[in-house]
Amino acid sequence: MQRIDNETVRKILDTADIVEVVSDFVKLRRSGSGYMGLCPFHNERTPSFSVSKAKGICKCFSCGKGGSPVGFIMELEKLSYVEALRWLARKYNIEIKERELSAEELAVASERESMLALNEFALNFFEHTLTESEEGRNIGLAYFRERGISDASIKKFRLGYAPEQRDSLALAAMKKGYSAEMLKATGLCSASERGTLYDKYRGRVIYPIFGLSGKVLGFGARTLKTDKNVAKYMNSPESIIYHKSNELYGLYQARRSIVSLDKCILVEGYMDVISMSQRGIENVVASSGTSLTEGQITLINRFTENVTVIYDSDAAGIKASIRGIDMLLARGMKIKVMLLPEGDDPDSFAKAHSLEEIQQYMAENETDFIRFKAKIMQSTTDANDPVARAGIISSMAKSISVVPDPILSSEYIKECARLLSTSEEIVALQVAKFRNESLEKEGIKAKQAEAERPKVVADPTIHVRSTRSQDKAAFVRPCEMEVLRLLVRYGMVTLATVQDSDGHERNLSVMDYARQELEGDEIEFENADLNALFFAITELQPQWAAELPSIMEQAAETRRQFFEAEMTTLRSQSLSMAELTKKGDQAEKQAELIEADFINQAAEQFVARRLSQSPDNTLRTLATTLISEKYVLSKIYTKDNQKVETERDLLATRVPRAIYGLKSAHLQWDEKELRIKLMQQGGDSEDTQEILQTLQNMRKIIAEIAKFLGERIILPK
Ligand code: UTP
Ligand code: MN
Repeated sequence: MQRIDNETVRKILDTADIVEVVSDFVKLRRSGSGYMGLCPFHNERTPSFSVSKAKGICKCFSCGKGGSPVGFIMELEKLSYVEALRWLARKYNIEIKERELSAEELAVASERESMLALNEFALNFFEHTLTESEEGRNIGLAYFRERGISDASIKKFRLGYAPEQRDSLALAAMKKGYSAEMLKATGLCSASERGTLYDKYRGRVIYPIFGLSGKVLGFGARTLKTDKNVAKYMNSPESIIYHKSNELYGLYQARRSIVSLDKCILVEGYMDVISMSQRGIENVVASSGTSLTEGQITLINRFTENVTVIYDSDAAGIKASIRGIDMLLARGMKIKVMLLPEGDDPDSFAKAHSLEEIQQYMAENETDFIRFKAKIMQSTTDANDPVARAGIISSMAKSISVVPDPILSSEYIKECARLLSTSEEIVALQVAKFRNESLEKEGIKAKQAEAERPKVVADPTIHVRSTRSQDKAAFVRPCEMEVLRLLVRYGMVTLATVQDSDGHERNLSVMDYARQELEGDEIEFENADLNALFFAITELQPQWAAELPSIMEQAAETRRQFFEAEMTTLRSQSLSMAELTKKGDQAEKQAELIEADFINQAAEQFVARRLSQSPDNTLRTLATTLISEKYVLSKIYTKDNQKVETERDLLATRVPRAIYGLKSAHLQWDEKELRIKLMQQGGDSEDTQEILQTLQNMRKIIAEIAKFLGERIILPK
């Protein structure tokens, strides 16, 4: 490969500043003595990539990747040491005497490097042809001029032109030693049936596509013909250097502006990017004809979380933008949408208006996605059709349910309720429903992963020698999990109505009952993670108590509305007085059920909902796993009347069972330990009698619990 002399190497290494280098790829924030940002090596939402200016290195706490400026560039851009040095030299304008690769050197260079080198060659070829050849000037340059593209933009985006001649690029490249294989692999050429190479982009203007390191990864080539049978654009094929779904057109040129404005504007086409940029709006990128992908979102997210999506006001564009928006939301990004006046695209709009006019239009027309989606949906559905209306609410709730930030999502819920003139609670419940569904899905995945991990057998007889407390924790863990599962699902649900010592009636929640029982026997959770979860649920109790009055009010309102609607219908049916009274009574009973159900639903979702938003990773994951557990018996068909009983109907049995199961596990463990102690003593110690007595008591209680668990349980006294 090429050589760089030692002095230049030293100069490059001395000049390269880790913060500046990393900042080209990652948005960094000051944090303590260093900087933090989202790791560019793996997908993450909370920053764990740390950069130390003083030490001159960067490192990801989560995946471990990082290093010096050279190491960072090598790893990120998959470059060799020498290439990384060249990259840094280019960044800092340090001159390296370039030497063309010889044919021999090219042959040994890796395929990847060869393809990149060939693309670089082609880039220069197209660029040169555009301005330096007669054909290029007359056709290509004339076209760009006609479309109002300035010389500065042509330079900035390195636009080019491919000559009409069948194989001008192929010949020039082969003369430099690039192989036919590489010409085909990059998609620049194809072979005819007779095996001769021909250029693919003949007579087209060229939009090179750059990676973040400034390497040309591919090309978009636009035809200048108006013939409908000719593809408007030809794009580089997928290859080891170009993955369409992981690149964004214009990002290389836009990245600094995106960081400094903390915002990225997303448009559709090459020309849209160039025209906006030429007008002075430089933080613009295009997804190039594909709908937005996860990889592209990750790319944007490294620089900013604020995205404005601009689309033309045609129906297809709007549909595409709604799909993309849900994906952006799920990544916790803050999304705005802007529609252009009918008939305009960003390109024509930028050309027809001054910078100030565009900025003003943006300020006035950028819409929060919630308002945008609600508006679009309302304009396409009949507002008086209740089914359609419910559909809108549900679809909006689905979008909101993917928003990870709880504060943001509750703002969206408010806004959505206001826009659709419905209650916040209705939207919130739907959002919670979708969230739970997706949590269940995630949970199932987590569970599958769990199942694939080797299991530790929790048999007390096997583990007597290792750390005792850990063994006990492992032994009781399944029982603790079952108790917590019920608490996460139903913690705030009323289990029974009990009488206070002073004769007042009081609702006893599942959580109240569990605490009472466990505290009574001085049982604590042996597993630290589960104990933390239990504690977190404890802390939710006062929050629930504070929210309850308003939920009850809403439930009462729901009942009232339902009842009134029913009565209005009945009255319009000209029924006899007796019939009206009878049906009225039925409606009233139904309304009462609806009210109770409303409260139950809210209670059921409260703990899971809060925990699923917990900032603590362990808690969140645990809660997710617990609600995803699928129990075969969660629905029970009783023989006599075919009624389906849900787990909630059976709480009065399930909860005490779980609690007593846990108590029994504790006793069994303690009994076993005591028995082992007794055996080790050989039965001739002072306290032998005492131990025997204790053991006997324990066995009695264990047997009693077993009997109790074997029967249907009547609720706590
Ligand atoms: P447009 O047809 O809107 O193209 O397609 P444009 O960029 O505005 O081009 P002009 O203004 O007609 O010159 C939007 C984007 O979709 C991709 C391109 O990335 C284009 O920029 N596209 C479109 C293709 O890849 N192939 C096509 O045949 C058409
Ligand atoms: Mn266009």
